[in-house]
Amino acid sequence: MAGRIPENILEDILSRVDIVEVISSYIPLKKAGRNFKANCPFHHEKTPSFMVSSDRQIFHCFGCGESGNAFKFLMRYERMEFPEAVETLAKKTGVLLSENQKQDHVSVNINTNLFKVNELSVSFYENNLNSSLGKPAKEYLLKRGLSEETINTFKLGLAIEKWDSLLNSLRLKSISLSMQEKAGLIISKETGGYYDRFRNRIIFPIFDIKSRPLGFGARVLDNSLPKYINSPETPIYIKGKNLYGLNLAKDSIREDDFVIIVEGYLDLIIPYQHGLRNIVASLGTALTPDQVRLLKRFTQNVVMVYDADAAGELATLRSLDIFIEEEMEVRIVTLPKGFDPDTFVRKDGIASLRERIKQAENLFDYKLRILESRFNSKEIEGKAKISNSMLETLNKIKNAVLRSEYLKKLAQELDVNEDALLQEINKIKPITNYADSRNQITRKTFKTNPTEQLLIKLMLEESGLIHRIKDNLEPADFQDERISRIVSIMFDLASQGKAIEPKMLMNYVGEDDVSELVCESLFLPEESSGIHKEKVIDDCIKRLKSDKLKLKKQHLHEQIKTAQHLGDEETLNSLIEEFHYLIKKR
Ligand code: CTP
Ligand code: MN
Repeated sequence: MAGRIPENILEDILSRVDIVEVISSYIPLKKAGRNFKANCPFHHEKTPSFMVSSDRQIFHCFGCGESGNAFKFLMRYERMEFPEAVETLAKKTGVLLSENQKQDHVSVNINTNLFKVNELSVSFYENNLNSSLGKPAKEYLLKRGLSEETINTFKLGLAIEKWDSLLNSLRLKSISLSMQEKAGLIISKETGGYYDRFRNRIIFPIFDIKSRPLGFGARVLDNSLPKYINSPETPIYIKGKNLYGLNLAKDSIREDDFVIIVEGYLDLIIPYQHGLRNIVASLGTALTPDQVRLLKRFTQNVVMVYDADAAGELATLRSLDIFIEEEMEVRIVTLPKGFDPDTFVRKDGIASLRERIKQAENLFDYKLRILESRFNSKEIEGKAKISNSMLETLNKIKNAVLRSEYLKKLAQELDVNEDALLQEINKIKPITNYADSRNQITRKTFKTNPTEQLLIKLMLEESGLIHRIKDNLEPADFQDERISRIVSIMFDLASQGKAIEPKMLMNYVGEDDVSELVCESLFLPEESSGIHKEKVIDDCIKRLKSDKLKLKKQHLHEQIKTAQHLGDEETLNSLIEEFHYLIKKR
C-alpha cells in the first residue's frame, strides 16, 4: 500500500512513466490492437496471454492472473518492495522524493541495512588490498594476469590475517555485532564473542543485478584448503537466485543476444578483462531455474563453458534440462583437459576462446557424445542406457516438431528403430514443469458475477457514469466482496470529485485479488458498441436489484421456516410482515 508516500506523488510518478516502456525494457512486447502482448514472464506459456495497456497503464495476464500498474510490475519482476519500486520509478521520471519520504521506508527495511553493511565491508577490504599490508595479495592477483583496472572493476579486496579487523572497523562505524552476524561477516565463538569469517584471503564481492553487494567469496593465496570460503545465506544473499557478474554483463548480453556461463570467479574475470563482456558465473554450483529465468530476461541463447573435468561435465548435464524447460537454446564448449576458461585464455588467447564459442556444440550432440564416452553404443545394453538418458532430455522439449526430429536423429545415431524410441519416450511420465505446477497452486479461481464485473468495467472506463450507478446502488448491493470494495473506493473518490484512474486505483486497493479483478475487467472485450452505455447500466442495475431481492426473499424464507420450527410467534409475525412488504415493493 501507499504507506507514507503521498498519493499525489504516486500519481505524479505514474503520469510520467510509460508502463509499455518499463515492461519492454525487460521482455519483448508485440503490438496487438490497442494493447501490447507477450509471453507472461510470471508463468510458463507458449501463447501470449500477458497484456499491457498503454491507455490504461496497466498489465494483466489471463493465464496466471498477475496484474497491476508499473509499480506492481517492478515488485513482481525485480522482487522489489513497494517503496523501492516507487523510488526506482521516481528516479527514472525525475520526481523528487524528500529524504524524509525515503528514509521512512528505508529504515523499516532490514535488507537495506544489510546492503549498507556489505558496502562498508567492500570498501574496507578494498582499502586493505591497496595498503602496504596488501602487497603480497596484489602481487598474487597481478601474477594471475589481472590488471589494476580489473581489480577495481570487480572491487576485489583483501581480508588480513587478524581475527577481528573487520569486526572492529564496522563497530567503529556503529554497526552492531548482531547486524554483522546477520550479514554473515562474523561468526560467534562457543566461548562467547565473535571473530571475522574471512581472514588472510582475497575477497571477491558478489553483487546483484543492480550492483548491490550481496555477499562475498574469499580465496586463499596459496594451495591450502579450503580454496574458497563463501558468505552463508542471509536475508539478501540467497544462493541460486543470482549470477556473479550479471550486473556488469547484462547490457552486453542483450546486445550480443547470448550469454556465456562459466563456473568460477576468475573464469569470468579474465575473459572479461580481455573484452568478453557477455559472461556470468554460476560459482561452482548447478544452475537453478531461478538463475535461468533471470538470464531469460536478456536473451534466449546460452553458451556454457565449464571445466573439462568430471565435475564440470556433471554440472553441465544437470543444467541442460532446465534450459530446455525454459525453452532456451543452449550450446556447450568443451575445453581441452585440465583447462578452465581462465587458464585457457591465458595460454591460448581470447580469440581462441571466441572461436570455440562460435563452434559450440548443441545440446543433443554434446549429451550424446558424453554418453557414448561412458557407455558402449555398439552393444545392446549400452544402446538402452544411452537412449534412456537421451529420451529423458528429449521428452522435455516442448516443440513437437523439434522433438520428433531429434528422435529421428537419435534413432539414426544409435542405429535403433525409431518406433521403439517413440514407445519408450511415451512411457516417461509427462513432465510436470516447475513453472506449471507453481501456477496450479497460485492460480486463483474466483467466480465473478458478470453483471457486477461489467458495471465496474463501465465505471472504470468512463467515470462520468459513476453517478448514475451511485444513485441507484450501494457498495453492499454487490455480492462479490472484492467488487463491493472497489465500488466503495470508486464512490468515495467520485464524491470527492477526484478522477478515477485504474493505474492509481491499484495503489488504493492493495489486495492482489482486487487489483487483479480491476485489470481483468479492463481487458475484457468491448460490449457491442451500438448500444448506449446508459442503457446497459440501467439493465445491469435492474438485474442486480432483482438478484438482491431474490436473495433477500430466500433468506427471509429460511428465517420464517426456523421461526415456525421454534414456535416463535412474535418473530414469525414480523418476518411474514417483512416478506409481504418485499413482494409489494416489487
Ligand atoms: N568454489 C567454492 N568453494 C570451493 C571451491 C570452489 O565456492 N571450496 C566455487 C568458486 O566460486 C570457484 C568455483 O567454485 O570459483 C570453481 O571452482 P574451481 O574450479 O575449483 O576453482 P577456480 O575458479 O578455478 O579457482 P582458481 O582458478 O582460483 O583456482
Ligand atoms: Mn581456475
